[in-house]
Amino acid sequence: MGVPKEAVEIPRGRRRTGSTALTLYICALASLLAFGIYRCQKPYGRKSEIGTVKWSPAAECNPGTECGAVIVPKDYIDRSAGTASIAIARFKATKFPKKGTVFLNPGGPGGSGTRLATQTFADLIGDDWDLLGFDPRGINKTSPQVQCFNGSSDFNLFVANTVLQQGFNVASSRNLSNPAIEAQLVEQAREFMALKKSQAELCAKNMGDELKYMGTATVVRDMDFITKVLDGEDAKINFWGASYGSILGAYLVNMLPERAGFVVIDGIVDPVNWSMAGQLALIPPKKHIASILKPVPVPFFMQAGPEACPLTQHIDEPYQDIETRLEDFFDALALTPLPAPFGFRPGFVTSGGARAFLLQYLQRPQKWAESALALSQAMAGNGTLLFNLLVIPLKERTPHYDLARLGVTCMDSPPPKSPAEVPTAEVLVAELMKSLREVSQHFGASASVGEPDGGCQYWPVRGPERFSGPWNATLDWPMLIVSNTMDPITPIQSGLRINSLMPDSSRLIIKDGPGHCSDAFPTPCIIKLIRGYFAGSPGEWDNM
Ligand SMILES: *[C@@H]1O[C@H](CO)[C@@H](O)[C@H](O)[C@H]1NC(C)=O
Ligand SMILES: *[C@@H]1O[C@H](CO)[C@@H](O)[C@H](O)[C@H]1NC(C)=O
Ligand SMILES: *[C@@H]1O[C@H](CO)[C@@H](O)[C@H](O)[C@H]1NC(C)=O
Ligand SMILES: *[C@@H]1O[C@H](CO)[C@@H](O)[C@H](O)[C@H]1NC(C)=O
Ligand SMILES: *[C@@H]1O[C@H](CO)[C@@H](O)[C@H](O)[C@H]1NC(C)=O
Ligand SMILES: *[C@@H]1O[C@H](CO)[C@@H](O)[C@H](O)[C@H]1NC(C)=O
Repeated sequence: MGVPKEAVEIPRGRRRTGSTALTLYICALASLLAFGIYRCQKPYGRKSEIGTVKWSPAAECNPGTECGAVIVPKDYIDRSAGTASIAIARFKATKFPKKGTVFLNPGGPGGSGTRLATQTFADLIGDDWDLLGFDPRGINKTSPQVQCFNGSSDFNLFVANTVLQQGFNVASSRNLSNPAIEAQLVEQAREFMALKKSQAELCAKNMGDELKYMGTATVVRDMDFITKVLDGEDAKINFWGASYGSILGAYLVNMLPERAGFVVIDGIVDPVNWSMAGQLALIPPKKHIASILKPVPVPFFMQAGPEACPLTQHIDEPYQDIETRLEDFFDALALTPLPAPFGFRPGFVTSGGARAFLLQYLQRPQKWAESALALSQAMAGNGTLLFNLLVIPLKERTPHYDLARLGVTCMDSPPPKSPAEVPTAEVLVAELMKSLREVSQHFGASASVGEPDGGCQYWPVRGPERFSGPWNATLDWPMLIVSNTMDPITPIQSGLRINSLMPDSSRLIIKDGPGHCSDAFPTPCIIKLIRGYFAGSPGEWDNM
């Protein structure tokens, strides 16, 4: 069955405004979410008309979806800049009357959204919505795409065995007043800065002005534009987003409050801090996060026992004992990295890498058994599994659109006002030390491996539009916020902050549990509340 061709014209020139409590099950969880993967071809067409939808042949889309691209203005302020093509995949409503379209964003930034348009999301959101997965600016099948390196092997060579892949080594996080720690970090920060500067210069050469259009504000304009194309001029913009998707949602409701419809954000990043993350952001302020890990330092090993959780020595071992062994291990690695000759490529594990590994896996309860095994093998002298689990995912996370994440975060951050403002390695390390002391002694210097931010002081351009608040919009329909109490990367404090800025225009669900975003550990209760929100007016929802 063929997919009908559609072409919708939008009038041109129209202006748009715009521990204990952690329980036993922890070490033995199976993967619950499986997203369908499918491919859509990049749409062709040279003289593309703004507002046109180019549908791909059905055979190129996931069964049950339509896919293609919407042609939009590259720059909403300067329409002479040409066009961009936003890849979309639509899982259509099966229940009528249809209520509209819900845009889906998986986070990152840099995550491709087209793979989300599946029955899994229809189960969460409702069968009477069209679900629209899309690739935001710079990402995957959307063009222009962020491609700074000459192919992913160049990129992988560039990061291999550097501080970008291995993280910052901290000699011992147990005594941060040891001056050697700071000296060692300064040395690593110099390498970090040279790498960031090098890749920024490469982007400037290979991407030029195309880099200007990747920011979150532009993506909000895209969602507005695409809503009008698909559902008509008066249709509201509905949205579900997780992790960085919460930033996109917060920008949407505050930039275009009168256009926002049903909006759910899950796994919250503080948008105020995000938009202010300046050039000092080695670990950007949004990383003032893992405060959760201060009171509950290494929470996950406790009660499972060695059979399910090889990091423990007996059932109900006090977590402090496990934490001590881990710290001993990290400290030993700081002196003597662990060779990993038989990994997917020969390599070695550093203390920075092992810490970054643990931080990444704290986000994913369903993988705790696997990560506990990798750490326990490494502690016994075999670094193969840990090295593979740390490095292969990083490699896979950088397909041909290599620096899409920086493409977004640097566009959202303020430019340095003068060259004098570009921080020195010493200034960056002072930030790292602060983060180690005040946020998390374990992970205060470790976030940049999984979330390679920073170095925006070198980024060659800034975009046509940057949004920096205010963040207290009034909405017709309250936005729904979902925060986990023990999310190590998007802390509950960020959810509370948005909720306090928009007390009458938001509702907050607090989920008492670990992991990053509520689907790290899905429960029928959360699913029912989210589905209920999309099912009714928020007034009805309040009475559920
Ligand atoms: C890019 O999009 C295609 C579908 O168009 C999908 O198959 C692929 O998984 C996406 N890539 C990533 C890294 O998400
Ligand atoms: C990019 O890579 C291709 C294939 O590896 C090579 O032929 C080409 O010379 C490279 N281009 C640049 C500019 O390095
Ligand atoms: C921490 O390190 C400093 C400097 O090396 C040292 O003076 C101090 O005694 C150490 N504190 C502890 C508790 O080991
Ligand atoms: C090291 O660990 C890897 C992965 O778990 C395993 O395949 C390998 O056999 C181990 N090597 C030794 C010498 O035990
Ligand atoms: C929203 O915040 C801005 C800036 O912080 C402030 O000037 C304005 O008064 C606030 N508006 C409302 C309705 O509280
Ligand atoms: C935002 O940044 C400030 C200043 O760095 C910090 O104190 C605060 O905890 C951050 N907020 C969140 C929610 O991370």
